[in-house]
Amino acid sequence: MKIARFSRVGFILAAAGSAVGLGNIWKFPYIAGEYGGGAFVLVYLITVMLIGFSVMIAELLIGYLGRSDAASSFVKISSTHKSFWLAGAIMAMAGLLIMTFYSVVIGWILNYIFVALTSLPASVDEAKSVFTQMIDSSILTQIFFHTVAFVLISAVVARGIKGGIERLNMVLMPLLFVIVGGMFLYALSLDGFSKAVDFMFMPDWSKLNSEAFVTAVGHAFFTLSLGMGALLTYAASLPKNSNLVSNTLIVVALDTGIALVAGLMLFTFLYEYGAEPSSGPGLVFISLPAVFYEMGTIGTVFAVLFFFALAFAGLTSAVSLVEPMVQIGIDKFKMSRLKSSISMGLFFYLIGIVVILSGSSEFKETLTWGGKNLFDWIDFITASIMLPLGGLMMAIFVGFVMRRSQVEAVLKPQLGRFFEIWYFSLRFIAPAALFVVALHLLGVA
Ligand code: PHE
Repeated sequence: MKIARFSRVGFILAAAGSAVGLGNIWKFPYIAGEYGGGAFVLVYLITVMLIGFSVMIAELLIGYLGRSDAASSFVKISSTHKSFWLAGAIMAMAGLLIMTFYSVVIGWILNYIFVALTSLPASVDEAKSVFTQMIDSSILTQIFFHTVAFVLISAVVARGIKGGIERLNMVLMPLLFVIVGGMFLYALSLDGFSKAVDFMFMPDWSKLNSEAFVTAVGHAFFTLSLGMGALLTYAASLPKNSNLVSNTLIVVALDTGIALVAGLMLFTFLYEYGAEPSSGPGLVFISLPAVFYEMGTIGTVFAVLFFFALAFAGLTSAVSLVEPMVQIGIDKFKMSRLKSSISMGLFFYLIGIVVILSGSSEFKETLTWGGKNLFDWIDFITASIMLPLGGLMMAIFVGFVMRRSQVEAVLKPQLGRFFEIWYFSLRFIAPAALFVVALHLLGVA
């Protein structure tokens, strides 16, 4: 039962807040770096255009028409296909699984706000040891900040769509845009900028192996918050007569824009000061702080602002990762919002602690299988498998299970003559592309 609805701006900021997250500023630059830049970026951009758009419209449509939680909305729309309830519930669970590492990384970021405020590491080596020390042996520090993240996120979600989630996004998203935009303008004035452009946009196809391909497609889903019912759940609280297509356009544009702007800015700073673009998850925690140190006073200011912006991006996404299961708890299990928020919160909080342990030198070996520790496994299973699969389910649901007339009634007026193209790409192109990903995955696994 929905009482409070988003305002129009509130929805756009909340959906953009969900999409623009650690995926854009922390993950995208380091995976682009690891897979050699250009070719990877291109596959990601093509996926966003070809699949991201059409699946996002479908996901919003399900929430908008179903007006319920991520699982029940499917059944509300088509009561003859009850099995989709389970698909929706599994999707929503992916959100909590993602949260088990997402909250840990938000914790690192909160910790780094203090590092930036007190003393930035003076060299890459020193930065490396600060980061490695945190991961390897400062288990309690990590648990402390992970706890802070858990409390903040649960407190916002417990206040609901309007008083919690919309409010948070109305404040933090504009701040995030200003900080990232301002730092990007500064980066534009540096010589390293052209090298950053080359790195991000000159494809070197030899670097594109099948793992890079799967990662790029998975990342497109991850960064657009697709395939786990986050946007679906938000869309259930859209005001009547909302335009799903223009909302989608704005959210995709903001998300892609921020990823490219943040990537260009980071690589500019790195090139300007001779640091390496490919240093894994530690990229923004190792190379970047050392570069900020080199920049002097303005660097310190940048460092503090940057980690704040990263925290904002993370928190506004985190609430959308938790909300689908919280909503299921309320609708299906008749919990109060407070109880549901705490229960779902505890789920990711407790597993998150094991994720922290899986990075520490003491427990790493026990919690590593086949070259990936628990952190990497959860990241891989959710981003590369569960989200694309969730996207596929939604494409099939809207493309084949729903009656065409039902879909047309809402989207034909909004899409106009693009309706046919969208419908075709949702029914055939998106599933075909995801099938190719599945094949690649079988080869990779
Ligand atoms: N899109 C978010 C990011 O880029 C992560 C996310 C994934 C949020 C799926 C919600 C759903 O960080």
